[in-house]
Amino acid sequence: LSLPKETGLSSTPYLYLFQGFWYPTDNVEGVNKFQKHFHAKDNDVFVASLPKSGTTWLKALTFGIVNHQRFSSFDNHPLLSSNPHELVPFPEFMYSHDLHDQILSLSNMSEPRLLSTHLPFPSLPESITKSNCKIIYICRNPFDTFVSAWEFFTKINSVSLPKFTVEEAFEKYCNGIMVYGPWWSHMLGYWNESITRPNKVLFLMYEDLIEDTVFHVKRIAEFLDSPITQGGESSTVIENIIKLCKFETMKDLEVNKSGYLQNIAKKHFFRKGEIGDWINYFSPSMIEKLSKIIEEKLGGSGLSFKVHS
Ligand code: A3P
Repeated sequence: LSLPKETGLSSTPYLYLFQGFWYPTDNVEGVNKFQKHFHAKDNDVFVASLPKSGTTWLKALTFGIVNHQRFSSFDNHPLLSSNPHELVPFPEFMYSHDLHDQILSLSNMSEPRLLSTHLPFPSLPESITKSNCKIIYICRNPFDTFVSAWEFFTKINSVSLPKFTVEEAFEKYCNGIMVYGPWWSHMLGYWNESITRPNKVLFLMYEDLIEDTVFHVKRIAEFLDSPITQGGESSTVIENIIKLCKFETMKDLEVNKSGYLQNIAKKHFFRKGEIGDWINYFSPSMIEKLSKIIEEKLGGSGLSFKVHS
């Protein structure tokens, strides 16, 4: 794959428009390889999301559910000794960074394999969309997602990422220019698929998960046909998983700054974990503009957002 020098937007040379979505330029070749070479298994489970939508939390919860029989003791659970991004890796990053050993080790992962992706639905490898593997998508209201992303991308010490003011970043966000954006197309791709193929894609909202964690964790377990939903111990197991994955617990764990996250301070992954922090960042005109875009792009889709707790 040869990348033209001009990205089309000189102010965002770090992003590249590929198949209608904005990717980190460094990752495009890897995405292309992932699409060509990755083979999904029928029992794979994928956690899918836009960055800053609650991916880390969903990875942890899903890991707890899928592995509840392997790790029935909560005293030395892997979630206490490895961070969720190590336990539930992104194969597309392995392809982007040519991590051949890790790519090879994917075929030896214990089954069902639990993997994750930020790719939009139409760009997923065919074996993911066509096989019987399942996808759990987490979506977050665009106001908080924007703030979480702005905080993250401006505060992490990345030499390759330009630092934008809130206003500059917001302008780009409104034009869909954000990693894996346009965000509305990303959300709609999974949303529509979850309606036409509810056994294939489970669409979750971060806000719902905050407000009724037990109910939505049970939904995940049912979607995955997990035996966790049966038996007398079921409620206790679910409660223990939720406890292990609580914001306050996860943010204090030393492991959550190891491995893949080692160059990024833990506080950037576990910032506030709330609904409605956007109110501290948005001017009235920004609120009006984003509300209008949500209506224009997502109105009539059935997708709606909770923006206050
Ligand atoms: P804030 O920046 O608003 O605090 P991602 O995992 O996709 O990068 O999303 C990060 C967002 O999820 C951050 O939001 C982070 O604080 C929040 N988050 C991380 N772990 C969480 C948890 N266990 N429970 C609730 N929210 C969590």
